[in-house]
Amino acid sequence: MSDNNPIGIFDSGIGGLTVFKEVSRMMPNEDILYLGDTARVPYGTRSAETVARYSFECTDFLMSRHVKVLVVACNTVSAISLSEIRDRVPVPVIGVIEPGARAAVTATKNKRIGVIGTEATIRSHAYFRAIKAIDETVEVSGLACPLFVPLVEEGWTEGDIARLVAEKYLAQLKNRDIDTIVLGCTHYPLLKEVIEEVMDCITIIDSAVETGKALKSVLAEGPLLKHSRESGTHKFFVTDSAEKFISVGERFLGREIRDIERVRL
Ligand code: DGL
Repeated sequence: MSDNNPIGIFDSGIGGLTVFKEVSRMMPNEDILYLGDTARVPYGTRSAETVARYSFECTDFLMSRHVKVLVVACNTVSAISLSEIRDRVPVPVIGVIEPGARAAVTATKNKRIGVIGTEATIRSHAYFRAIKAIDETVEVSGLACPLFVPLVEEGWTEGDIARLVAEKYLAQLKNRDIDTIVLGCTHYPLLKEVIEEVMDCITIIDSAVETGKALKSVLAEGPLLKHSRESGTHKFFVTDSAEKFISVGERFLGREIRDIERVRL
């Protein structure tokens, strides 16, 4: 695999742009292919078997485009089928759970960490296991916040509705004495300000940032970092109409999304 091949990133939808944003910021010369399975989002409410099947289709699509590394931006997929994806492909595969878990364990002072994510991610206990594998004395409280994903997909990331929903969910974590919270879902970094306001004085771990760092070190070790200093190209693939992806995505990225194509998996 050549170091000039693109990085492949996939998510169930638009939320993985949080990871794309960090990766393109940290490695501006890399070419990136982003696939959002917008026709089938959300994954987080589906069975493990269905999530795995969808994720293999996303994987095969990006592999057919010769990516040099695969970033599974979706927490739900990372929680359910990461090891099967690794068995399936000959390139390094980076998930979002391990980097987030590691950063949370480093950040916590009182060894009490909260993890919020989709129902499937929380049900899988993947963060619980990843955190305990690093430090088994840490206590982990998981909480599913299913309405956060449609809020973000709708572009309602601030204002009264977002705040009320966050207050309702996060009240369940407030009496747990946690000092660190992991945003264990691609979409949640877009609600970071609201979550910060509601949780007050807590360290927030954004898996997107941590995943970008993990990717960079895997590419450096490869060695697979692209040598050219020219700006990288960014191509987006979606499985449903591109319009909503473009309007929410552009607002979030603060730039135009030009090269976008609708595909069938
Ligand atoms: N990408 C998913 C995740 O990070 C959230 C959206 C969904 O449920 O598909 O868990």
